[in-house]
Amino acid sequence: MDILREKLWPSAAAAKPLPFASSSPAEWVDFSQQSLAIAIASILFNPVFWNIAARSEYHYRIITKLAFGNPYFGCYLLAITIFSIGIIRDGLYEQALRDQPSLDILATTGAKTLAAALFATGNLLVISSMWALGLTGTYLGDYFGILMDHKVESFPFNVTSAPMYYGSTLSFLGTAIWFGKPAGVLLTIEVLVVYLAALRFEDPFTSEIYARRRRQRAIQAQKAR
Ligand SMILES: *[C@@H]1O[C@H](CO)[C@@H](O)[C@H](O)[C@H]1NC(C)=O
Repeated sequence: MDILREKLWPSAAAAKPLPFASSSPAEWVDFSQQSLAIAIASILFNPVFWNIAARSEYHYRIITKLAFGNPYFGCYLLAITIFSIGIIRDGLYEQALRDQPSLDILATTGAKTLAAALFATGNLLVISSMWALGLTGTYLGDYFGILMDHKVESFPFNVTSAPMYYGSTLSFLGTAIWFGKPAGVLLTIEVLVVYLAALRFEDPFTSEIYARRRRQRAIQAQKAR
């Protein structure tokens, strides 16, 4: 099996882990691997893509038009697309890790336990947040005019305001440590930076969408009086 894998994906993974004590950090990440560049690009691409898609929906109803005028179908179409490019990104991430050196201190039971705990916590945050928000709430329904009735404040939103992003980041970190790859930790930092940038771009915009609804409701309430 390993021989087959090495044939299909020839990599440095078969090499012995680098000794933490007697190696230089410059050796821990192999920047010459093309798979690393591809993973870096894919991690950046995803949030850029869904923000451009969501804003062109909000301003020009582009996705709804593609979905025969039905905003729910449009949102499902975007959901499937975002979900798929997420799976592709995760695959490219794992492929990149395979081509990278590993570090001996990350091969300990303690490191594996930490990795599993991070991965489990991350997935718990992501899955429970999807559960709490529903499909359209998770996949940018606000931009389609599909607004939530109330702000969700139940778990995991009582732990963090962005459980999807922080949960995903923890899963990336868990995977990096599980495979003992310093390059994975570096890519995880990229994931975090890209998500933090996305939040700064998305949060004010969605707040404004809900503020607009509040203003409209206030006007309607006044008219009804
Ligand atoms: C968040 O909610 C969950 C479930 O309702 C609860 O168990 C947990 O203690 C809460 N956490 C915080 C920090 O309030």
